Amino acid sequence: MTTENFNPEQQANEYENQSPVAIIKLALENFDNIAISFSGAEDVVLIDMATKINPDVKVFSLDTGRLHAETYRFIEQVREHYSLNIDVLSPDTDSVQNLVREKGLYSFYKDGHKECCGIRKVIPLRRKLLTLDAWITGQRKDQSPDTRNAIPVVERDNAFSTKDKQLIKFNPLSNWSSSEVWDYIRSNNVPFNALHEQGFMSIGCEPCTRAVLPNQHEREGRWWWEEATQKECGLHEGNLKK
Ligand code: ADX
Ligand code: SF4
Repeated sequence: MTTENFNPEQQANEYENQSPVAIIKLALENFDNIAISFSGAEDVVLIDMATKINPDVKVFSLDTGRLHAETYRFIEQVREHYSLNIDVLSPDTDSVQNLVREKGLYSFYKDGHKECCGIRKVIPLRRKLLTLDAWITGQRKDQSPDTRNAIPVVERDNAFSTKDKQLIKFNPLSNWSSSEVWDYIRSNNVPFNALHEQGFMSIGCEPCTRAVLPNQHEREGRWWWEEATQKECGLHEGNLKK
């Protein structure tokens, strides 16, 4: 199917109460040119579910150059465990070098994360998405009451569509809670990032992620020096306008 024949709003209504596996099936049955966007955290459940439907499902990860050593090891572990060729994407060398030359390695603590995330995550993602008709993310409503509480299970990706192509975005885990994700990981023996054993819940880049204390919300461990309402790095820019 092409993106023009697929009505995401209608499918979002129909699939709102369906399981993540059913939503992944919908995605893979309708789009050949589709990939999972894997952060190296608990969104590994998407890979576990999708490889049971199509063992050769396409997966990519954005290597910002600033991930934890544990995350790099985990990405490789997942590659081997599922015999997958994960497409690990690097940012543009000149852009990174210019940023670091001008502002140093930790500019985001002073002037916010947008510029660094733009160079290290958003531009490489845009480049990748230009080659796809649809993508699958591990976003969940419960990850952020401030920015993710209205995520549909499938939507038009207005942030990354072009005038020539409507990009479709699937969020199969949207209605799952963190504990449902972890029940799935445990009961299916899914490998997980070793940082989760050290109090990390939400995992991003090393300088911008920290462990949380009991009863702290997982998003408090990300960009903790910034306003909760601004905690989107640009991968899911549409969430800020909802
Ligand atoms: S972020 O926008 O705040 O960084 P988050 O860490 O919550 O995102 O992850 C939500 C989803 O965004 C992940 O499940 C994944 O689909 C995608 N994502 C986040 N970071 C990456 C990454 N480095 N590489 C690929 N996908 C990512
Ligand atoms: Fe840069 Fe932090 Fe964004 Fe990673 S999360 S790209 S280190 S600002």
